[in-house]
Amino acid sequence: MSESDIVISMRDVVKTFGDQVVLDGVTFDVRRGETVVIMGGSGCGKSTTLRHLVGSLNPDEGSVEVFGRDIAMLDEAELNEVRKRFGILFQSGALFNSMTVSENVGLILEEHTELDASIIDMMVKIKLELVDLREAAEKYPAQISGGMKKRAGLARALALDPEILFYDEPSAGLDPVTSAAIDQLIIDLTTRLGVASVVVTHEMDSAFTIADRMVMLHHGRVLMNAPRAEFERLRDYPEDQIGELNEDHRLIRQFLRGDPDGPMTDHGAGGNSYANDLLGIDNSKLTGGRSVQSTRNSASGQGFWRKLFSWRAVK
Ligand SMILES: Nc1ncnc2c1ncn2[C@@H]1O[C@H](COP(=O)(O)OP(=O)(O)OP(=O)(O)O)[C@@H](O)[C@H]1O
Ligand SMILES: [Mg+2]
Repeated sequence: MSESDIVISMRDVVKTFGDQVVLDGVTFDVRRGETVVIMGGSGCGKSTTLRHLVGSLNPDEGSVEVFGRDIAMLDEAELNEVRKRFGILFQSGALFNSMTVSENVGLILEEHTELDASIIDMMVKIKLELVDLREAAEKYPAQISGGMKKRAGLARALALDPEILFYDEPSAGLDPVTSAAIDQLIIDLTTRLGVASVVVTHEMDSAFTIADRMVMLHHGRVLMNAPRAEFERLRDYPEDQIGELNEDHRLIRQFLRGDPDGPMTDHGAGGNSYANDLLGIDNSKLTGGRSVQSTRNSASGQGFWRKLFSWRAVK
């Protein structure tokens, strides 16, 4: 992999809320075609990290470069152009309830391309086929299961052929079989489409299935950034030899194994909605009573993204 493969570069990012240092010099890269899993205990700064990567927060110190551009330096229009190259999978799918699955996926294409309705129709079918959801195309979100919503959200995230996909807890709340199917989908999309994926997850089985590389955060610091195999080695490190590990590695081992005892002691609350969590917006505003027509008519053609990204970066 060369430098030119780097699509995201987070450098020494410090972020403070009030007097709490939430990110304390976070540095890592994401390369084209790889899946990076960000993990760590509740409150360690995972969602805050993602919010920096999508430009909803700007660092106090350090920088975030996406496609070689420092996103804190971009104006609103430039940021929107960069975001068109992202796909974001919301925890709940964040679909518009008043629109069918097809319409949810097609909306983005209508807003961001000049394509004919018949071409959009075809593209929607292709995206739904990719996530194995053709049969639910004409259903409304209320008529499909949680796993199907997640896949519909993914089809929508894929609508504009993104180069980077962001996922926050993609398997949260799903049964093990559905969760494994979503994992397989993430792997397939990464290998078939060559997209880079950044995944926040607490599910260790899932993390070890999908990750090429893992970034472990602890109290706003990167404790370890390494290929999956190195994390596997720590996870499987024999109990009778853990005296050989340093404190950080013991902590990582405990986290990966889910052991109740060990150096990791911070157990805060977790499980916020993705939209709230990552984007700082109220999920109900996304799903409540919006019609296709009102969104189609948005004068600027940026209506959807404006809703999703209405929070504009906080300095
Ligand atoms: N906008 C904000 N204002 C003030 N504090 C915040 C803000 N966003 C996050 N924090 C704080 O920063 C810390 C890290 O939050 P973050 O949401 O990044 O954690 P997380 O690793 O995603 O946790 P979880 O696994 O529970 O989702 C928490 O203590 C949180 O309360
Ligand atoms: Mg979070």
